[in-house]
Amino acid sequence: MSLEEKFEVLRRRNATAMEGGGRKRIETQHAQGKLTARERVELLLDPNTFVETDRFVQHRCADFEMEKFLGDGVITGYGKVNGRLVYVFAQDFTVYGGSLSEAYAEKICKIMDHAVRNGAPVVGLNDSGGARIQEGVQSLAGYADIFLRNTLSSGVVPQISAIMGPCAGGAVYSPAITDFILMVKNTSYMFVTGPDVIKTVTHEEVTKENLGGAMAHNERSGVAHFAAEDEKECLYLIRELLSFVPQNNMEDPPAVTPKDSPDRTDESLNQVVPDIPTKPYDIRDVIRKVADDGDFFEIQEHYARNIVIGFARMNGRSVGVTANQPAILAGCLDINSSIKGARFVRFCDAFNIPLLTFVDVPGFLPGTTQEYGGIIKHGAKLLYAFAEATVPKVTVITRKAYGGAYDVMASKHIRADVNFAYPTAEIAVMGPDGAVNIIFRKELVKSDNPEATKAELVADYRERFASPYKAAELGYIDEVIMPSETRPKVIKAFEMLKNKRDTNPPRKHGNIPL
Ligand code: HXC
Repeated sequence: MSLEEKFEVLRRRNATAMEGGGRKRIETQHAQGKLTARERVELLLDPNTFVETDRFVQHRCADFEMEKFLGDGVITGYGKVNGRLVYVFAQDFTVYGGSLSEAYAEKICKIMDHAVRNGAPVVGLNDSGGARIQEGVQSLAGYADIFLRNTLSSGVVPQISAIMGPCAGGAVYSPAITDFILMVKNTSYMFVTGPDVIKTVTHEEVTKENLGGAMAHNERSGVAHFAAEDEKECLYLIRELLSFVPQNNMEDPPAVTPKDSPDRTDESLNQVVPDIPTKPYDIRDVIRKVADDGDFFEIQEHYARNIVIGFARMNGRSVGVTANQPAILAGCLDINSSIKGARFVRFCDAFNIPLLTFVDVPGFLPGTTQEYGGIIKHGAKLLYAFAEATVPKVTVITRKAYGGAYDVMASKHIRADVNFAYPTAEIAVMGPDGAVNIIFRKELVKSDNPEATKAELVADYRERFASPYKAAELGYIDEVIMPSETRPKVIKAFEMLKNKRDTNPPRKHGNIPL
């Protein structure tokens, strides 16, 4: 073979690999409103940065006379997002429905190993019929190899999963271990067992979309973190998400040059918290008024909306914001919000992202559903997460901070570094109403006019105890601040904490109440 013929072989092979499972299957993919794996990778990464690995890998299955396709159903490699290195794998539905073979799993494992060794995030674009049925247990082994790497990479490099087609059976457990799951509305679904099996076993009838579509997992189960309108938005969201996080656990998050002044005060913040303690308001208004350029990247916005989580920047540096949401369930903590908050706080702590916490919490949600559902152990997750976190922690109490929830929400006692309170803060063991009912039970029974007596006692209790000043007297609150000054105060606190070093006792690992 001449030199030119050899080069021609390479060109031909490359061209064949670009076709995946062939033109016809690519057309079917497009007809379903889905992009191909290669198109997705191109949109995810900065232009002309993708370097493909293992383009010529093929399956090794000797049974069923199976056709071989170059790349074997998964595109793997690395490239840049906003100029920073990212490893990526994209499942190619045009080859055996993106199903996972032994060779395919090896390709994914190879880039996951690179990611950990070189300290860069892994993004997985999932679109697969699951285990390659013809390969049987070798495919299951391949999944387990990936699960192991997902687990060992957890907290070392950020892992992001986009679901852009089917993701069913045990295959769901790789995305489940990763840090963030994004789903595309109408074209993606995730479930352990599909509608047909469910009908046979439990006689329930449910559509694929209702069972495991984007909103099912964003609103109901809390499995997913984002629901994108289409694939382009999904890939854009990944790029934005990556802009807030460091490359690995040894780095700080990337800093940008801020446009917003660190000294900016905002008079309108003085009016955000209503005068009436029971009146709801949207805590996101506070967050946006405080963050750089009013920009708040909310995570899991459809799930457990009584707690708000997401990323913002303070003077150009990423912070992880956790906030009770008084507009929903009065901002109380329940099972779902505790789990949602805890996982986020742990992500931030693992990746050196400082924590900014806004508190307006009347307590834990009462009721048998919560108690039987295990609010004790689930609420403990949030407490554990805030307590173990060693990143800089700044807390702002806007209004209520009652009972155990006061302790949980990044209080001074569990190692928050700087604790602010607004003059509207009410920091106490419980609300004035409940407190008076207990302390003055006898007086209320004896009173000729119990309603008037109670109103007087409640007003007195509120004046004396439902304020920030008792906590400030004790040093549990470092400073009572005007709401308008929140941004400069928080920025100065984080600047002071820039070189914070804190550690936990050496141990194999803690035992968070799961
Ligand atoms: C091999 C598969 C496959 C699979 C699909 N294909 N799934 N090949 N193994 N798991 C092939 C089809 O034969 C077809 O080949 C092509 O992919 C496209 O599939 P269609 O069925 O035509 O596509 P569509 O109608 O869109 O349906 C997609 C689908 C369906 C819902 C994913 O294909 C399906 O139900 N597949 C089987 C799913 C499954 O049971 N997987 C194993 C589950 S067990 P041609 O040649 O016609 O293009 C599992 C365990 C994981 O995953 C455990 C991890 C621990």
